[in-house]
Amino acid sequence: NLGRVGDRLDLPVYAVGGFVRDLLLGQQNADVDVTVDGDGILFAETFAAEFGCRVKSHEKFGTAVIVFPNGFKIDVASTRLEYYVSPGALPTVERSSLKMDLYRRDFTVNTLAIALNSQSFGKLIDYFGAYRDLQAKVIRVLHNLSFVEDPTRVFRAIRFEQRLNFKIAKHTEDLIKNAVKMDFLVKLGGRRLLSELVQILREKEPLQGIGRMASLGLLRFIHPSIELTPELQAALEEVRYVVSWFDLLYLERPYERWAVYFLALCEVLSHEQFWATCTRLAVSEHQREHLAEMRRQGEELIGAMERKLARQERLESSEIYFTLRVLSVEILLYHMARSHNPETKRCISLYFTKLHGMEPLIGGEELKRLGIKPGPIYRELLDAVLSARMNGKVSSKDDEIRWVL
Ligand code: CTP
Repeated sequence: NLGRVGDRLDLPVYAVGGFVRDLLLGQQNADVDVTVDGDGILFAETFAAEFGCRVKSHEKFGTAVIVFPNGFKIDVASTRLEYYVSPGALPTVERSSLKMDLYRRDFTVNTLAIALNSQSFGKLIDYFGAYRDLQAKVIRVLHNLSFVEDPTRVFRAIRFEQRLNFKIAKHTEDLIKNAVKMDFLVKLGGRRLLSELVQILREKEPLQGIGRMASLGLLRFIHPSIELTPELQAALEEVRYVVSWFDLLYLERPYERWAVYFLALCEVLSHEQFWATCTRLAVSEHQREHLAEMRRQGEELIGAMERKLARQERLESSEIYFTLRVLSVEILLYHMARSHNPETKRCISLYFTKLHGMEPLIGGEELKRLGIKPGPIYRELLDAVLSARMNGKVSSKDDEIRWVL
């Protein structure tokens, strides 16, 4: 249908970039990118009107997003526009060709296009040896200034290398090393650095990406004292183990997996350094406060719990529950991974698998029937009943009522 709308408007339309790359690799990619050799916004609006979609367009960039009623999206770009301004004259707008448009991209494997118009439907357009590189499993830049133009590509190279199981070409790797040495990455703002880091940490297997970042000397851009020591490597491996264990519990408790890795990476930082790093990386205020506060509290609460355990004191289930429930999933998983104490791991595991989600069998209704006046006392009583239940002191509704009395 995209091609047919293109035919009618007499506009060449192509599927491009990551979508084509993944199509040829037989991998799923829900992001469809389309480039129109001409007015992409007109194309998007015409398509949307015909198929009952919405359009969000950015005139300035000649781009639009087609949003289908079910939420599915197609990004539409125009082969990019260039403005030449001569003194006193109105800006002239020049359209670049598809080839020029693709040449501006990061790596050869992202420069493939597939024609969508009826006459040429399915024709693969490969100007820069992308197909050869896909087969050779190589990440290669198109020109020597690629990383100077856009230092985020250093991180993108690592992400694609790990995700696709490709290898960064030797010359491209040398250009990365050069960009690191020449401090081009310093130009990169904190926000963009964080966004790239988060994307690497969100990959299915972030450890290899972290290893690659370390070997290319990139961890110091997070903080100069972060180094991939054998201890950090072991901690990260433990994080991987713990998060996959947690995911298999299917608890439907949402959490940010990247943040658990991030906390582990920042292990060596003091609370002040951690706060300053989050600020520099432009972690959102809400998230920064949450992470930093949880980091502090986690250390305190889990530290106290571990001291008790070290004194061989018995920890009741309810105590574990009320200690851990104030902490976020991210912090709990982080501590589960970093602790060398099997008892700590056992307590956190017990919290997730059994204690969290336990409720008393009685509720406000029963308390009212017992003639207790509603108020904050209800919370206290129900918490006390919950404690008794967790510690095996009550097991039925009647037990719980007797407990209250
Ligand atoms: N691109 C680029 N330089 C960047 C970011 C993006 O050249 N710093 C180009 C890439 O060639 C990419 C296209 O813009 O194909 C779209 O970017 P994005 O959606 O981030 O890339 P995908 O390849 O679709 O990556 P992903 O699979 O992670 O979505």
